[in-house]
Formats: sequence, C-alpha cells, structure tokens
Amino acid sequence: MPDEIQIITTGDGSHSLLNTALNETYHSVHGAKRESVHVFIQHGLKYFLQHHPESQAVKIFEVGFGTGLNALLTASFAETYQKKILYTSIEAFPLAEKIWRQLNYSENATEQTLFEKLHTSLWNSGIDITAHFGLRKINTTLQQLPIEGNHFDIVFFDAFAPAKQPEMWEKALLEKVYYGLKSPGVFVTYCAKGQLKRDLRDLGFLVETLAGPPGKKEMVRALKNS
Ligand SMILES: C[S@@+](CC[C@H](N)C(=O)[O-])C[C@H]1O[C@@H](n2cnc3c(N)ncnc32)[C@H](O)[C@@H]1O
Repeated sequence: MPDEIQIITTGDGSHSLLNTALNETYHSVHGAKRESVHVFIQHGLKYFLQHHPESQAVKIFEVGFGTGLNALLTASFAETYQKKILYTSIEAFPLAEKIWRQLNYSENATEQTLFEKLHTSLWNSGIDITAHFGLRKINTTLQQLPIEGNHFDIVFFDAFAPAKQPEMWEKALLEKVYYGLKSPGVFVTYCAKGQLKRDLRDLGFLVETLAGPPGKKEMVRALKNS
C-alpha cells in the first residue's frame, strides 16, 4: 500500500494523500484541514465538551490514523484549552516517514514538534505526548481490534469511503464501534450515506445529518444515549 501513495494539495492549501490503488484520497479534495476541523473537532470534540464540560479526561477513538491530521488538531486543541484528552487511534497501513515528513499541517515550530512526536511514538503502546494529550496508536485493523465496551466518549470514524472500502462500513463493524462507545457518547464521520444512517439508527444511535464542510453537502453525527 505505501508505494501507491501520492501527496496532493487540497482546496485550502493543506496536503492530503491519494491512494492510487483505490483511487481514493485521505481527505476532501476541497480542503483536508478544513474538513478535519469541521467534522471531527467542531462537530465531534467541541460538541461533546459543550454538553459535558465536567469531563475530566475525554477518551477518543479514531478509525484510521493515516496522516495524523486529526490527532494533531486534537493535540493542539488539548494544549490550547488545557483539556485532558486520551486518544486511541488504529491504522492498518502506517505511513512511511518519507511521506508524513512532507505534510504541511503544522502552523508553527511547536506544532511541528507535536506532529513529529505523534508520528515517531511507538506503535502498540501508550505515551503522554504532552501534559494534556495521551496517545495510543495501534497497528491493526478495525476488524481485528479487540474493543473494550463502554470505553470511549467520542469516535472519529475516518475510514475510506464506502464506495472504495465497503467492508469498513458493515453493520457488524459499526456495532463494534457502538459497543466501544460510552453512553452518552458521540460518533462523527464525514460520510452521510443513507445506508450508514439506517444502520446507525438500527444499532440504537440518534442520527443527525449536519451541514458538511465546504464542498461537501452533509456529514453525520450519531449519539449514543441509552
Ligand atoms: C480516510 S484515511 C485516514 C484519514 C486520517 N484520519 C487522516 O487524517 O489522515 C483512512 C485510513 O484508514 C486506514 N485503513 C484502511 N483499512 C483499515 C482497516 N481495516 N482498519 C483500520 N484502518 C484502516 C487507511 O490506511 C487510511 O490511513
């Protein structure tokens, strides 16, 4: 897989990657960073904290570490707001250093140091990246991951699109994710396909269709409340 990866520049100037085998990008071509901020930070993390400001340590589970963009944005958020976040991210195909080193996500030297720490931290172990951000990266597939029930506050579901990797969106895998979420818990994804929404509702989620980031009409937030 890594040999089939090309760096592209998206609509907001931030990089993304194109997987040429799947002909699929890691983010929206209209703006990688803008999409991650909108879907995962704004409608996932900020939403959760607005409703649960008392939360002492927010536990996030990400499907698809990829470029580390969501992890970087979350780590920066944790530092800015002095909020403790424990971030678990799984990745089936970790990127080669020669790829991630070229990515232009950091706004300054502090963020660049953070970004490098996220990428160079060991797989399959936990580490405190900063005083507020703990990271556990696991080199595995969602299919193989044993998941602890009722554990995470928020899920960043950032798999390749259903048209390209349908097995990631199968109901049995979504059920696994539902099981891993606490109640109350928040699931967010950039995808807004009808089948996904039906499956999430069947599993017991309260499904919200929200406006997507620029260039994408809709996204989904699903709430586990029971
Ligand atoms: C949409 S991209 C990742 C986006 C990532 N969050 C980012 O900001 O770069 C999807 C990611 O899922 C990974 N992936 C593919 N199959 C997987 C699987 N079965 N389990 C977990 N991750 C998988 C891909 O290698 C890729 O990094």
